[in-house]
Amino acid sequence: MIFAGNRLALTQPAHINELRLLGPPEWGTCMTDAIHYELQGDIAILKAQNPPVNALGHAVRQGLVDGLERAEADNARAILIHGDGSTWFAGADIREFGKPMQEPLLPDVCNRIEASPLLVVGALHGTALGGGLEVALCCHYRIAVPGARVGLPEVMLGILPGAGGTQRLPRLIGVEPAIDIITTARQVGAQEALELGILDRVREGEPRDVGLAFVRALLDDDAPRRPVSEMPAPKPIDFDAMYQTVLKRGRGQIAPAQAVRAVQLACELPFDEGLRREREMFMDLMETDQRQGMIHAFFAERAVSKLPELKAVEPRVVNAIGVIGGGTMGAGIATSALLAGLNVTLVEMSQEAADAARTRIEGNLAGALKRNKITQDRYDTLTQETLALATDYDALKDADLVIEAVFEDMDVKKDVFTKLDAVCKPGAVLATNTSYLDVNEIAAATARPGDVIGLHFFSPAHVMKLLEVVVADRTAPDTVATGFALGKKMGKIAVRAGVCDGFIGNRILATYRTAADHMVLDGASPFQIDKALEDFGFAMGPYAVADLAGLDIGWAMRKRQAPHRDPRERVPSYPDRLCEAGHFGQKTGKGYYIYETGKRGGTPNPEVTGLIEAERAERGITPRDFTDEEIVRRYMAAMVNEAAKVVGEGIARRPLDVDMVLLSGYGFPRYHGGPLKWADLQGLPGLLDDIKSYAREDDHFWQPAPLLERLVEEGRNFDDLNKEAAS
Ligand code: 3HC
Ligand code: NAI
Repeated sequence: MIFAGNRLALTQPAHINELRLLGPPEWGTCMTDAIHYELQGDIAILKAQNPPVNALGHAVRQGLVDGLERAEADNARAILIHGDGSTWFAGADIREFGKPMQEPLLPDVCNRIEASPLLVVGALHGTALGGGLEVALCCHYRIAVPGARVGLPEVMLGILPGAGGTQRLPRLIGVEPAIDIITTARQVGAQEALELGILDRVREGEPRDVGLAFVRALLDDDAPRRPVSEMPAPKPIDFDAMYQTVLKRGRGQIAPAQAVRAVQLACELPFDEGLRREREMFMDLMETDQRQGMIHAFFAERAVSKLPELKAVEPRVVNAIGVIGGGTMGAGIATSALLAGLNVTLVEMSQEAADAARTRIEGNLAGALKRNKITQDRYDTLTQETLALATDYDALKDADLVIEAVFEDMDVKKDVFTKLDAVCKPGAVLATNTSYLDVNEIAAATARPGDVIGLHFFSPAHVMKLLEVVVADRTAPDTVATGFALGKKMGKIAVRAGVCDGFIGNRILATYRTAADHMVLDGASPFQIDKALEDFGFAMGPYAVADLAGLDIGWAMRKRQAPHRDPRERVPSYPDRLCEAGHFGQKTGKGYYIYETGKRGGTPNPEVTGLIEAERAERGITPRDFTDEEIVRRYMAAMVNEAAKVVGEGIARRPLDVDMVLLSGYGFPRYHGGPLKWADLQGLPGLLDDIKSYAREDDHFWQPAPLLERLVEEGRNFDDLNKEAAS
């Protein structure tokens, strides 16, 4: 009998190779194809095969339970669980969320694994996240390959670990490290996980092989089963203080703070009771708008780069890039490209400007070095070999792609593109980082408009995730594909945008900023507006952001727009008074707020209040009170209305594209899912009613977006448009 023979073999020192001599293994799948079953001597091997990430969907859960039962029936002594393809289980199947749950549920599967009378070992590779780590925590021992990462990122989906993670992890590694991992959602590398005690071993090799060797060693040592649930309750900490800290850090997000309370249960309740309560909290969070917002953001982030017209289009090869202009943006773009492994040649106007650009780039890279993102060797190579500075456009003749980041002036841009057209090799992509200018007009300065595109990075370009890929009328599909490929290489979230003043993000920003300015004229203070929006979840309110960006930028823009401004527009002039007095915000120490050196943030500048009052008096405005709720409502209505216009006009392809732009470039709180997801959750009819009621005061500014009106009329929402686009 296979069983008896294998048992006999176990009495001798055994290795996997010896086991292989024992005869042909038994192969098979476990009821579902998602888990493959194999009996290797007395070790049952359960291999997850649910590409792309071995998510723990229904078939996988069922397969695991079947596999356990079969292993026990086969009288195996141990079970090895590992994943096929690129990863161990990357978590619960998020696509099942919000739908009726199908048994067996993940917590039951986890408990079943842990309760198995056989020795269960997990061999991890890739990412063991969420439910994936929870399955691993139920194995009696865990080994991983060095590249593996583990984590409990559920809070990034608006939930908390719901299959024992908040009860088992603190038992295994202690309360504080568990809270850190759960509330920050960070992925922990194998070595750190080993040091924390999440893993028992880290070994180089194939997960299946290192796993089998580990199981064999454990069996040889007669190692006992080691259920984490039977470990003593962890030592408590000051949970109230921790809850407050995490709540504050979440800026309105509830899941991380709830997770602290769930970990608290691990200290205070018997395991089973803690597990039951964890599940209740998990289910409660599942019902929230925040969960819907976060999951929308998760899928939107992955959908933005999926454009039907690019399906069969190959991007051009890009190894060497050119950057023109080494100011704030050019230096940031060059840094980002260097960090992505590209050769960079940066052209400036003079040697002095080139030297200044080098200093900026070296400063950025020094930051990466300080944060251990790169080694000293890499820093030296990047600054001394991979980066070249030049003052002559001829240096760009071999570049595969050039990004222009010179002054925001159409004549200067056209001049640059004429020169690029003359020197660049055929097929080179010519990109502009313009914030507002017409990419069609820039493209027309060349004889190769098909190669011209907008690549709109955000400041600081080596940090900010967003990249708007601005497609002009004659941009060739493979130029667009190259823009997206470059974005991916640089680790950006690339979103397609059409040509208009400000593209997606800056156009919408201009509108909601105007709504805020109107509220200030009518009675709100910039400080109240900032506070209301920070309470809504924005990292900073619009006036604090203006101080950070520099008030001179808006001042220059207002002056440029003044000659051709519609007289119905209400543009405040008090910020001009601030600028005239030399107050440009943070960089001069004073703007809407006063900034003291060494202190974070600013305090409201009382002069601003005086200037606003004077302007109201001049305009004959009797100020009225605004509640925080009304501030948010108007600000968001302006944002959603303009966003709907942007989608309706095809500047953004889908509502989710707008959501990603605001989420990744404008500090929109992720747990609201983006402005259009937020709008869906609020209900479009109510929002449209608001806009119509505001239009009774100012029908120039508040013109309902035709798309919004149509959706309300048809009883549909923005997500319906996302779904339509995906089908
Ligand atoms: N469920 C369903 N689909 C998933 C998924 C999941 N948990 N994780 C990833 N996918 C899908 C993605 O949507 C994508 O699909 P697409 O090709 O159709 O766009 C595909 O798998 C590949 O994903 P990525 O493009 O993100 O691949 P990467 O290699 O860049 O990243 C990853 C892999 C690190 C695993 C990343 O996908 C990730 O972070 N996934 C989410 C992990 C997570 O949050 N797990 C916790 C889930 S909640 C949970 O477990 C609850 C439990 O406590 C009860
Ligand atoms: P900046 O003024 O800091 O830098 C511009 C640089 O271009 C200067 O160093 C200048 O010497 C150089 N330059 C000017 N003409 C040149 C030429 N003909 N050849 C070579 N170099 C030349 O400007 P910043 O902020 O970096 O902006 C650059 C572009 O990026 C603008 O189009 C701007 O609208 C856009 N942008 C700016 C953002 C920001 O937050 N600053 C964000 C996104 C886009």
